[in-house]
Amino acid sequence: MEEVTDFAFREMFARYSGNGQQGTGNGFVMFTEFINTDGLTHPEGYKKLAIDLKYSENQRPIVAQIWGNRPEKFLQAAKIAADLGFDGVDINMGCPQQKEIGLGACAALIRQPKLAQEIILATKEGAVSAGRRMPVSVKTRLGYSKSGEMAGWVENLLSCGIAALTLHARTKQEMSKVPANWEKIKEAVEIRNQATGNRQQEGRTLIIGNGDIKSREEGLKRIQETGCDGVMVARGAFGHPWFFRNDGYQLGAKERLRVMLEHAELFNQELGQYKSFVIMRKHFKAYCSGFSGAHELRAKLMETKSFEETKSIVAEYLKTA
Ligand SMILES: Cc1cc2nc3c(=O)[nH]c(=O)nc-3n(C[C@H](O)[C@H](O)[C@H](O)COP(=O)(O)O)c2cc1C
Repeated sequence: MEEVTDFAFREMFARYSGNGQQGTGNGFVMFTEFINTDGLTHPEGYKKLAIDLKYSENQRPIVAQIWGNRPEKFLQAAKIAADLGFDGVDINMGCPQQKEIGLGACAALIRQPKLAQEIILATKEGAVSAGRRMPVSVKTRLGYSKSGEMAGWVENLLSCGIAALTLHARTKQEMSKVPANWEKIKEAVEIRNQATGNRQQEGRTLIIGNGDIKSREEGLKRIQETGCDGVMVARGAFGHPWFFRNDGYQLGAKERLRVMLEHAELFNQELGQYKSFVIMRKHFKAYCSGFSGAHELRAKLMETKSFEETKSIVAEYLKTA
């Protein structure tokens, strides 16, 4: 997620949800923020965007997400990600924001199915380094303006032989204004199953459902109901780096604030010279909820511009808590 899943955010999940602990963790995959292919493949742009491709070994498996609309740039960007040792590359065909749509990229590709295919094939061609082939996946929506577009769109993508297809269960037009339509995820699974003759064929495209998941349990329930291979969680994980743990781990208010400061400090250390500390505010909002005094504390944290300031506001709160 843009200005969310940066190095510090992902490192917090690696630390608190178990990825990297004894190798396998709890079976979740992390994605970078989406990164523009034109920028990434330009020498000056690369200097600015390299920080978005930084990861630690703890964060594996880690997928680089890229966006753009020129196949040759996808080829080069995928090669960069492969050479940097990423575990996969994901193509964004779902972002509904006007800036990206205006450039004919992201969800605008739903209306350019031929170009979408060319982009996937170019990405696959580029996603190789030292003989190692990286899986290529796509993240998209049900359709541009109607969910009835889903079947044709999904078939178009499946025909390119992608490793995984993440479907945000809304159309571009719906933005995030209506509840996610999980019935459509079930239909997409059926389309995939028919395409592979209902066999558990090795290498068949995994279908990942996405939209409105608030807990690990809810995610597992969606998998059961729809038959999808996994779920993607976005907003539900804000302020909960322990989200993917399977042991019911919960934290009290003081402990949450300690984790929040750890996150803020990590952001400051790793990204402080590249990104505005203001980005941390959306995380503060998520960490500070559900305990006494959270509302007032949150209001103060919405004004912070530095880690030092954040630390002193939290220290002040803890004196009275
Ligand atoms: C702040 C923000 C930034 C996002 N950035 C991206 C992005 O860079 N790439 C992407 O595929 N989706 C992005 N999304 C969309 C989410 O991945 C997800 O599809 C959407 O929020 C629905 O899932 P949820 O209900 O679990 O949040 C973003 C969402 C938010 C709220």
